Amino acid sequence: MRSIGPSGAKSSGASPPWKRRPARPPEGARGRRTSRLGIEGRKILVGVTGGVAAYKALEIVRLLSASGARCQAVLTRSATELIRPESFEALTGRKAVWDLWASDTMFRPPVAFGPESKPIHIDMAQSADLFLVAPATANVLAKMAAGIADDLLTTAYLAATCPVVVAPAMNVYMWNHPATKRSVARLVEDGVRVIEPDEGDLACGYRGKGRLAAPERIALVVHEMLAAKGPLSGRSVLVTAGRTEEALDPVRVLTNRSSGRMGTEIARAFAARGADVLLVAGVLSVDPPDGVRVIEATTARAMSEAVLREGPARDVVVMAAAVGDWRPKAVSDTKLKRAGELRLDLEPTEDIVRALGEKRGKIRVLAGFALETEEAEARGLEKMERKNLDLIVVNRPEVPGGGIGRGSTEAVLLGRDGYREAIGLSSKDAIAARIVDRIARML
Ligand SMILES: Cc1cc2nc3c(=O)[nH]c(=O)nc-3n(C[C@H](O)[C@H](O)[C@H](O)COP(=O)(O)O)c2cc1C
Repeated sequence: MRSIGPSGAKSSGASPPWKRRPARPPEGARGRRTSRLGIEGRKILVGVTGGVAAYKALEIVRLLSASGARCQAVLTRSATELIRPESFEALTGRKAVWDLWASDTMFRPPVAFGPESKPIHIDMAQSADLFLVAPATANVLAKMAAGIADDLLTTAYLAATCPVVVAPAMNVYMWNHPATKRSVARLVEDGVRVIEPDEGDLACGYRGKGRLAAPERIALVVHEMLAAKGPLSGRSVLVTAGRTEEALDPVRVLTNRSSGRMGTEIARAFAARGADVLLVAGVLSVDPPDGVRVIEATTARAMSEAVLREGPARDVVVMAAAVGDWRPKAVSDTKLKRAGELRLDLEPTEDIVRALGEKRGKIRVLAGFALETEEAEARGLEKMERKNLDLIVVNRPEVPGGGIGRGSTEAVLLGRDGYREAIGLSSKDAIAARIVDRIARML
């Protein structure tokens, strides 16, 4: 079955492979998009060993790549008997490696030689944010547990200082063997996370425990582990997003054109960096990010209550929701009939940002938005002062090619410390990332 070996290896260029951008987007990225929390741009070394479930590693790599991770496959020689390395290359856009001694991948090319030059097993292991071995054979578990490093995968394991997770898969008797149990117990002692196999029908014809955990479950564990190791892990954040609606009668509401995209992207960016995020959501035209706790608050009053209750205990509060400034003084119990002119008596809603700015509590960074049509920056600075904010994001409802309710916009970040950063027309997720990175530096 095998058709490629060390002699057939193609030139790989510089190592480790994820230091180079793939020439084209990874195949998996074109598939269904999964949550990007904690995983976007993170480097995952995916070890694949010689178990019959090796083909399922392709789906794991596809899921991780689709979430924005940079995957590098490292196979054992037995794995290359069961699955072609090229399949991983197609999904990751990076050369899959398996030979410790392959001259083209062993070191970076001569141009990189110098004090920085390291053999691939060190470079690859040391640059990884996480090392996943799936499927992990009984043999590889035993070698890892004993510290045997006789191939690229096991040598990289010893050289890795990042979190390691293994997903064993094997025949039920192999799984139940005392030797395998010893290996697993030793790996757990060594700090390796073990994703236990599932029970069920096994490829070898037996039934019992030993089937590789579902690729989705493995990808989820990787997401969780990476998020937990993010630069903002341990920080708690509240983000408001979306628009509020104030009822006029049982069917009509007073509202605005905010989609909630900016706030949800900010929540997503915080979660991606490992923060514990609470999203106080008004009406959203987009899905809230996975892995973020959501409290619905679709009126100004409900949002005010939620924010003043939950906000003061957080490290960071970002008020990105478009809260209506007025609500009808009276709400009709019955549908208003069309009968000539209608005058609405409006009253101001709660000024949530101001109330929180006065209360503050434990909040280290309180950030808000100023959507202004003229003298935007001056008004933003004035609002930051008046409402006791630390950072304000000034933007305009309409900009050429973007604005409120659209996927992109322009923004200027202004800090109380005099910080100023102008961001030209960009997608809202890119702007969210810049806002979150700025806040992270303020903590
Ligand atoms: C068709 C086939 C399927 C195999 N499936 C498994 C398996 O699922 N789990 C396992 O631990 N070993 C399995 N083995 C045995 C391993 O391939 C064998 O122990 C090998 O030495 C493992 O090498 P590696 O751990 O370096 O990948 C299988 C062997 C064959 C021939």
